[in-house]
Amino acid sequence: MTEHKTVLKGLEGVYVTESGVSLIDTENGALYYAGYDLRELVEHSSFEEVMFLLIHKRLPLRQEFSEFRELIRRSMELEPIHIEAIHRYARIVDVLTLLVILISLKGTGRQGGDPRDVNSAVDIVAKMGSFLSTIVRIKEGGDYVPPRSDFSYAENLLNMMNGGNYEDEHVEILDDLLIIHADHGISASTFAALVAASTLSDMYSSVAAAILALKGPLHGGASEASYEQALNIGDPAKVPAWLEATLSQKKKVMGFGHRVYKIYDPRAVVLKEIIAKYLDRMDGKVRLVYEITKALEDYGQKYLAPRGIFPNLDLWTPILYRMIGLPSDTFTALFAVSRSAGWTAHILEYWRDNRLIRPLHLYVGEYPRKYIPMELRGDS
Ligand code: CMC
Repeated sequence: MTEHKTVLKGLEGVYVTESGVSLIDTENGALYYAGYDLRELVEHSSFEEVMFLLIHKRLPLRQEFSEFRELIRRSMELEPIHIEAIHRYARIVDVLTLLVILISLKGTGRQGGDPRDVNSAVDIVAKMGSFLSTIVRIKEGGDYVPPRSDFSYAENLLNMMNGGNYEDEHVEILDDLLIIHADHGISASTFAALVAASTLSDMYSSVAAAILALKGPLHGGASEASYEQALNIGDPAKVPAWLEATLSQKKKVMGFGHRVYKIYDPRAVVLKEIIAKYLDRMDGKVRLVYEITKALEDYGQKYLAPRGIFPNLDLWTPILYRMIGLPSDTFTALFAVSRSAGWTAHILEYWRDNRLIRPLHLYVGEYPRKYIPMELRGDS
């Protein structure tokens, strides 16, 4: 008798681990980090505190938080090898690939598997931010700006990127964006991180695996794709016809839909609230992208919502990214910087009870087949 085997493509509905890092409430549309509502964290917390929370599953006390911030600040300093690599590659490879190169350089010779290795987790998140800012800075012809001890992580990112050329509200927006992207359960990239970490590969290499999984437009790459989509549509009045044409050709609308949400993505709700605060100061290209995005959201109600497809965070992020002056080829990289907090927290948690991730496949080819030597196969 043949045993019945079921293939769960995309691992849809499969629980692959237990985790206390984040909870996605798909019924009520909420996201919690270690039990704390994302909304409340965006309002009251900072990215550094969220980093601590994701790793330790509790809020820090004053003294330990000041030591934690100091560790982050020190870890943000770049070594000459990184600065040289950025000078060498920044104009040749895309930003995400360069992040993979730089983070991989830090992984050489290290051993994975230690669930207490908080220092590496902090080093990774700190370095990821400095890498991104220094890539942008060097691409624009500037020099490496070291991190400052009196600045928050978000302010250091902007200062290292722009050399003092930013506004206070940009720091707030960036800090909110970093918090909003910090974790989201077992997303494809987090799973990629866990797959690599489960082999006891080092944490830096596991994060490199995660960055590569984040890159695609179905996951983190959607923000850049959604920005391009808005620019290609070009005019809010064209949205209804564009949507009809896109859907009739069975193409995906970027910034809509999610594997786990069949309701409005709660992260997108928070983003919209932040955007609303700055609406009267938004002009030029950013304003146009906002108007097109709003039209996409409105007409999405008619065309996509009845099928359970709602806006996700990537519909709205490009507006805030552009408002704080991020070049459009760095959107996914900023997502990676922020999500490295979640990746590393998940890796440390997984290493407490590590088990190699090694699923099965159902072979559907012929076997056994007899090998025929080349000279006996004929010419065509
Ligand atoms: N536009 C048009 N149709 C869609 C969309 C969309 N954005 N999303 C899903 N559908 C349709 C899809 O065509 C399919 O239709 P049918 O049943 O007729 O074949 C049905 O809905 C189910 O789609 P699916 O792709 O099988 O569903 P999924 O659970 O794999 O979808 C998704 C998740 C994110 C891959 C998908 O919604 C998508 O491709 N969205 C666009 C890319 C995007 O915005 N990604 C960012 C996700 S949020 C950031 C993050 O956390 O990664």
